[in-house]
Amino acid sequence: MSNRYVIVLAAGKGTRMKSKLYKVLQPVAGKAMVDHVMTQVEQLKPDLIETVIGTGAEKVEDLLKDRTKYVLQKEQLGTAHAVLQTEKDLGTKKGMTLVVSGDTPLFTAETFENLFNYHEKEHAAVTVLTAAADEPFSYGRIVREDDGSVSKIVEEKDATEAEKEIHEVNTGIYCFDNELLFKSLHQVKNNNAQGEYYLPDVASILKEQGKKVVAYQMDDFSQSIGVNDRIALSQAEKLMRKRINESHMRDGVTLVDPDNTYIDYGVEIGNDTVIEPNVKISGQTKIGSDCLIGSGSRLEDATIEDNVKIISSTVESATMHKGSDLGPNSHLRPKAEIGQDVHVGNFCEVKNAKIGDRTKVGHLTYVGDATLGTDINVGCGVVFVNYDGVKKWHSNIGDHSFIGSNSNIIAPVEMADHSFIAAGSTITSDIPKHAMAIARQRQTNKEDFWNRLPLSNSEDWK
Ligand code: UD1
Ligand code: MG
Repeated sequence: MSNRYVIVLAAGKGTRMKSKLYKVLQPVAGKAMVDHVMTQVEQLKPDLIETVIGTGAEKVEDLLKDRTKYVLQKEQLGTAHAVLQTEKDLGTKKGMTLVVSGDTPLFTAETFENLFNYHEKEHAAVTVLTAAADEPFSYGRIVREDDGSVSKIVEEKDATEAEKEIHEVNTGIYCFDNELLFKSLHQVKNNNAQGEYYLPDVASILKEQGKKVVAYQMDDFSQSIGVNDRIALSQAEKLMRKRINESHMRDGVTLVDPDNTYIDYGVEIGNDTVIEPNVKISGQTKIGSDCLIGSGSRLEDATIEDNVKIISSTVESATMHKGSDLGPNSHLRPKAEIGQDVHVGNFCEVKNAKIGDRTKVGHLTYVGDATLGTDINVGCGVVFVNYDGVKKWHSNIGDHSFIGSNSNIIAPVEMADHSFIAAGSTITSDIPKHAMAIARQRQTNKEDFWNRLPLSNSEDWK
């Protein structure tokens, strides 16, 4: 097998995107387009991957780090000019070079592998990966000779009306004989509608030199979507989501309505977990088996163990251990850790807090900056008052303790095991073992209050 090199084109400004974000960094299913491309390319284990980046592309380097070599294309003069920037590292090498665009996130390693194999089998100078598009607008069109060989590739803006009718498009992926590639790149001119040096022109240059130029047409156009604007971005997102969802379903996850389930690339989900409609799962989220993730939930960087139930709730950078449940309408914020078989019910918020096994936090409660032990009952409407306007303070609640409803725990407070807080208390000091803290005004009933009201004799008050 000959040596294999890969060039990733990622220097284009992406003006059609109208974004502050560098085009190839636009996310598709939560992962930058160029990262998708890199992930597939890496599987080919090439001898070298070189990525062409443009000005302001430090973010591409920050993202991809040492997964690739980089070369800067100072001015974006076109795709041929972009490839030429790699000449210093690749120009004299013998072998095959795959050129891929950083804005085509749906290609799979398998497709690239097939292209390499086809190219090698054909002993071609260049093999262009093509696809039949229902709507070829904006893609370069493949013009073939009568014998079926490729004559040239015409860009949308340079195409005649007849050429615009062609449905076979250039996917922007090519496999070249490396030495012939760099020889012909120097001959590419920019006398076209955009005044750019077009990489596809290398095909006709090689053809004129009598070299073998072939096309490898793939069956599945959907892989070849090139994302130049937000419309294509949404199409790519939809296709990627479908691919991700089908892969989870094949692995034994039930998606009640896959068209309305939004799972990012890289999320892990165990079998027999059920995901209801309108759920968004993103980041480094891991979900165990036999869980229920109810409608309207949003999970980001969440760790969810087996048998967890989440109803219409949000979990961000938080952990739920086995058998726990959450919601409806609750929010786990960063560094919330919910123990085994814990119940966090309606309208609760937990932040930077650990809740021990079997503890119950049923309703309308805020737990922030606290460590709760096991088997605790937290009543309705309890507030962990953690912030004095300057600093956050931490409270510790012992095992088997009981916190009555509508209590405020003004941190820092240490509550020992088996202790109690009476409902309606505002707690400012520690509570020893087995004690009950009661911190509220004792009730007094003002006798005969009614008759002292000035209007008590009026008809309205009777
Ligand atoms: C390109 C092809 C077109 C093909 C389409 C497939 C050319 C001239 N046209 O068009 O035939 O159908 O892809 O998606 O190649 N880039 C650079 N430096 C530059 C210009 C572009 O690095 O100076 C990068 C871009 O970041 C992008 C890739 O090259 O990742 C393709 O450029 P883009 O402007 O998106 O080309 P298309 O118009 O999509
Ligand atoms: Mg493009």
